[in-house]
Parts: sequence; structure tokens; C-alpha cells
Amino acid sequence: MKDKIEKILKEVEDFSTDSLEKLEEFRIEYLSKKGKIPALFGDFKTVAAEERKEVGSILNTLKNNAQHKLNELKQIITLTNHTTDNEDIDLTRPVDFRNPGTRHPLSIVRRQILDIFSRIGYTVAEGPEIENDWHNFSALNFPEEHPARDMQDTFFISDDKTPSLEKIALRTHTSSVQVRVMESQKPPIRIVAPGRVFRNEAISARAHCIFHQVEGLYIDHNVSFADLKQTLYYFAREFFGEHTRVRFRPSYFPFTEPSAEMDISCNICGGSGCKICKYSGWVEILGCGMVDPNVLESCNIDSKEFTGLAFGMGIERITMLKYQIDDLRLFFENDIRFLKQFEGAL
Ligand code: PHE
Repeated sequence: MKDKIEKILKEVEDFSTDSLEKLEEFRIEYLSKKGKIPALFGDFKTVAAEERKEVGSILNTLKNNAQHKLNELKQIITLTNHTTDNEDIDLTRPVDFRNPGTRHPLSIVRRQILDIFSRIGYTVAEGPEIENDWHNFSALNFPEEHPARDMQDTFFISDDKTPSLEKIALRTHTSSVQVRVMESQKPPIRIVAPGRVFRNEAISARAHCIFHQVEGLYIDHNVSFADLKQTLYYFAREFFGEHTRVRFRPSYFPFTEPSAEMDISCNICGGSGCKICKYSGWVEILGCGMVDPNVLESCNIDSKEFTGLAFGMGIERITMLKYQIDDLRLFFENDIRFLKQFEGAL
């Protein structure tokens, strides 16, 4: 009996086929009710008691092997038939781009901005959207009573009772990333930091409680205001076109001294005056300045040895100017009719 089982075990092991008919014959021969394997189970009664354990075990192995072989071959045969014999599949047909996705205009513009700065040696840095007071305000030279720390402007996460210097909030600008980078890297530092920022604003065509900024920071020996102007002039021409002119107006930020806002000549009317530039010929695109020595010192950078420039721009604002979009809310509604217009843009 043992020899008989082993012989059949070998037959099962050696069996192979690529046709479903042959496989069915295999099933009938070995596994059907009148097949060889059930017959062996029938003969099992005749096995002497002392051999039962051993014979029973190889008999079970045989049954399992045969069943396994059947399932495995069935799967292989159906799969191969599907891919080679199915005439409905024509691998030479051109792809039908019926519904291609599109990049969001803010992603397109963010990439363009980062690309322009990467060509002059800026690398990308990122920081958290939930920030503590130190990174968002204190290290950036905001006095404790500064109005930007007010509930009216900032979304706080910690409760009212938390002392102001320990508060946790959604960052109100990407300048917090400047601080994180200065704390963890030594000059020379040259980074751009894109990201989402949050302000407690009523939503309108011109303002939103969530928007996006790109921050820039360059710290080294002898970085000057001339570097700041040239860097931003280069950016404006690369982004808006080579005829773009720029002008700097004095401004104030706690973390830069001196501070400025940069305008570009209106890219819609070319400077002659239109609705977008409110007939002034100029539109504001960013805030900038020389990093205040207090900020460098807060981050353990020697302000006698190093100087730095910084700038920050709103991606929504720049995108609106570039594509003549007149309502900021469109960026957040995900209306397919709006997004479709950016098809093909990278
Ligand atoms: N953080 C400023 C803002 O949100 C922009 C800015 C960045 C200004 C860096 C100067 C330097 O308006």
C-alpha cells in the first residue's frame, strides 16, 4: 500500500499541463469520487494497525498535494489565457486621456517660485504649521504687546489662560521657518520656505483665513541691501517677464531693519494704469528687509559677523496677478471649471 501511494505521489508531482481539459482529466483520475485517491482512502481499512499512522500521514500528503496542484494549475492557465488570448485588448492603441487631472494653480506658481530661487542657490526648507510663540513671534522681535499677537489676528490653540509667551498657535507667516533654520544651521544660510499660513480674517474676494507664502532668507558675511534688491529684481523679471520694473517702498516689520515692500510695474497694463493696479501702474507683491540684529542674536548668530536679507510673498497674490484672477476664494473651492483652465501647466 505504501509503495502504491508513493507511486501516485510521484505522478501527481510530475504532472503539468497548460490546457483546462487535461487538468479536468487529472481531477477525474485522481480526486473525483471514483478517482485513485478516494480509492486509496477506501483501502485504508486493510492497513495493519501498526502501519496506520505512517500510511495515514502520506495518504493525507498525497491528497493535499493533488488538490494544491489542481488549484495552482487552474490559476496559471486562466491567467495566461486572459492576457494572451483575449482579442479585445489592443496594446498598440494610443492612450485615451479622457479626463486628465490638472495641477492646482497655487502648486504651479509655488513650483515656479522655488525653481527661480533654486537657480541662484536657494534650497527648500519647511517647518510646522502649528507653532509656539517663540518661533512665530518672540524670536522675530515682536514685543509682547504687539497687536499681531491678538486673538483678532491669530488662531490660538492653547487656551486664554496660557501666558502669552507660552502660547501655541497656527503660524501666521512662514517667517517662523527662518527662526527654525537659523537655530539649527550655521551661516551661510540660503533657503526658501513655502507653506500654509493662517490668520483670523473674514473670508472675502481679497482675504482668506488660510493662504500660502514663500519665505526667503540669506545669511552670510557682507550680505547687503544691494543683494536684497538685486535678488528680488531678478525674481520679478524671471517670474513676470523681462520688461518688469520694480520699486521699493519703506515699510515696517519687527524682524527686519530696514524693511521695505516691493512693487512691480503692473503686468496687466504695463504701467499705464488699469483696474488691477487701481490706475497707479504699480502692484505690491512682497515684504522684505535686512534681518534685524536682534533676530540673529535670538538664534545665536553673531550679528557683528553676519548680516542677512529676508523676504516673504503670498502665493495667492502672485498667482492672481499672473493669471488675472480677481477672487481669492476660487483657489479653495475646487470648482472643476476653474481648475480645468490650468490643464497642461506644470
Ligand atoms: N512675514 C511677513 C508677512 O507675513 C513678510 C516678510 C517676510 C517681511 C520676511 C519681511 C521679511 O507679511
